[in-house]
Order: sequence, then C-alpha cells, then structure tokens
Amino acid sequence: MTKIGLYPGTFDPITVGHMDIIKRALSIVDKLVVAVALDTNKKPLFGIEERAALIKADIKAALPPSDLARVEVKTFSGLLMKFAESEKAAVIIRGLRAISDFEYEVQMACLNLKLNSEIQTIFLPASENTQFISSRFIKEISRLGGDISCFVSKNTEKELTKLFAKEAI
Ligand code: PNS
Repeated sequence: MTKIGLYPGTFDPITVGHMDIIKRALSIVDKLVVAVALDTNKKPLFGIEERAALIKADIKAALPPSDLARVEVKTFSGLLMKFAESEKAAVIIRGLRAISDFEYEVQMACLNLKLNSEIQTIFLPASENTQFISSRFIKEISRLGGDISCFVSKNTEKELTKLFAKEAI
C-alpha cells in the first residue's frame, strides 16, 4: 500500500529549511503532499497560490525526477485533519527547530490526534544548518535590504525582492 505523508504549513515563503524536510520526508513516505494552508494563525505576505507556485518551482529545481514524481503541492482551507483524511494521508510531517517550536508543535500534534487518532504526526528535527531559519525572519531581512541568498532559492529571493520593491514605491 502506498504510504502518503502530508507536509502542511504556511510556507510564506518556502525556505531551504522546508526543502530539507521535503527531501528527508521522501525517504519515509511513498508519496508526499505539500499542503499550503489558507487558514493559518499568521498573516501571509504571499497569496496562497503564490506560495504554492514558489514551492512548485523550488521542488522542480531541486529534486531528481524520481522524487519529483512522488511530490504534489496542494492548497487547502479549513481543518488540516479533514484535508489529511481526504488525501488518505497516513502521517503528518512537521519540521522541528530546537526548543522554540516544541510547545506549539506538540500542542498541535496532540489536538490533531484527538481529531483523528489514525493519523500520526511525525517530527523531523531541522538539520543542523537550517535550525535557525524561519520565513518570518527571512522576510524581515529581505524587507530591510539584507542578503537572504543562503536561506531561500534564487527564484524565491527574486519574488521577495520584487514584492518589497513594490511596497517601497
Ligand atoms: O508553517 P506553520 O505556520 O507553522 O503551519 C501551521 C499550520 C498551517 C500547519 C496550522 O496553522 C494548520 O494546521 N492550519 C489549518 C487549520 C487547522 O487545522 N487548525 C487546527 C490546528 S490544531
């Protein structure tokens, strides 16, 4: 049976940290659905379709064809667990950075487990070199004119720069 994993998030925008989780998740599931949330507790800079398009561009550039064929990028609204059920996901994958993420992530995983006890959340610890990367700070660095080239892809960097240049007008 095909084991489907769901990797949900706001992805505003996708970073090299997210990419690292996508690559590693592919070694534990047969198929991975990267699920871009409309209903998030954040106020995204990019629209949901733009966020999905940035992910699609990054995975196309970074993954070998055999892995790319096993990833789908989808958007969803409403409850994550409802979407996970509709996608027939066996597991939810979340990246975990140091201690800062722990409380929020465990709370979310426990609540999601209450909503559906058959879908487990698996945490993948962020790699050593991506521990400190967050979309929030990358947006701030970019907005203030800093170099974000080692945190996001060239394409995402270009889109962020474009957006902030427009804002400055
Ligand atoms: O990348 P993020 O912002 O940490 O991702 C959070 C996300 C999108 C996974 C979370 O906000 C979510 O699951 N949103 C969908 C609505 C939902 O199911 N909320 C209840 C969570 S217990």
